[in-house]
Amino acid sequence: MSNWVQEKDVPFQLKNIRYVIAVAAGKGGVGKSTLSVNLALALKRKGYSVGILDADIYGPSLSKMLPAETNIANSPENPDKLMPFISKGIKAMSISYIRPHQDPMAVRAPIANSMIMQFLFQVEWGELDYLIIDMPPGTGDIQLTIMQNITLSGAVIVTTPQAVALSDVRKAVQMFNQMNVPIIGVVENMSHFIEPISKIIYYPLGKGGGEKLAREFGLPFMGEIPLDAQISEYADAGISLFEGPILSPIALSYENISGHLTDHLYALESLEGDCLKDFELIWESKEYVY
Ligand SMILES: Nc1ncnc2c1ncn2[C@@H]1O[C@H](COP(=O)(O)OP(=O)(O)O)[C@@H](O)[C@H]1O
Ligand SMILES: [Mg+2]
Repeated sequence: MSNWVQEKDVPFQLKNIRYVIAVAAGKGGVGKSTLSVNLALALKRKGYSVGILDADIYGPSLSKMLPAETNIANSPENPDKLMPFISKGIKAMSISYIRPHQDPMAVRAPIANSMIMQFLFQVEWGELDYLIIDMPPGTGDIQLTIMQNITLSGAVIVTTPQAVALSDVRKAVQMFNQMNVPIIGVVENMSHFIEPISKIIYYPLGKGGGEKLAREFGLPFMGEIPLDAQISEYADAGISLFEGPILSPIALSYENISGHLTDHLYALESLEGDCLKDFELIWESKEYVY
């Protein structure tokens, strides 16, 4: 094992991070990573400082979508810590930057958990407005490790519209409820397809499933993202949808969702006073449970 994975607990306060947002779904392949990256880019474009943590140890995807512009480096101030990688002005950390080859990440849960702990506490995230955590699929060990060790400001649930794998999403919602993580809302990905010539709108995966789901759970519906080849092509090529002064309708759909997120957090903050107090976390004395 390379020496960056140390079995060593060096608690690091996340107090410099204003909001930690988990992007989650009950299952894989619904667009968690794509939404995480595009939310990060949309927030960055609005002037926020943003980090993104790829918590999908077994299926990491960040290095493709956000190719690193920096090399792996220890923090100059604290050699025990790793600097996040930088891509498009975003601080990013993923096992895919450190282990870029195609070998499967065949590690047992304690090792995966320890990697997550290191990503959270031994990466020099610095000051951030938003840390987006791209969660792994399901409701497993890594999710619990994250929720037991840091306070999440909220979770965004991604789903696709078809008969909506409802039971999977329900499990994810219940997991956050059990762990007292507020759910900010539901995003429907791959909601429709606009035929480029006729402009006719098709609903290959069914219509309105995400909104129905949000209603069923009494959650806000944050918006929908169309099924569009540009999204996967840009993601595969590591190109941002947010380059250039004029946003495409696709980029706007992500921007709208980022607007819902910031409005929601702003509203909460106005209601509850200065949320920052809550985020000045209580790590110093905390024992980690792996
Ligand atoms: N709205 C979309 N339109 C077209 N392709 C998409 C869309 N959202 C995601 N994809 C593609 O679907 C695949 C799975 O998305 P990904 O974000 O990796 O899912 P997850 O992280 O939930 O496993 C990727 O190839 C991605 O580029
Ligand atoms: Mg993913």
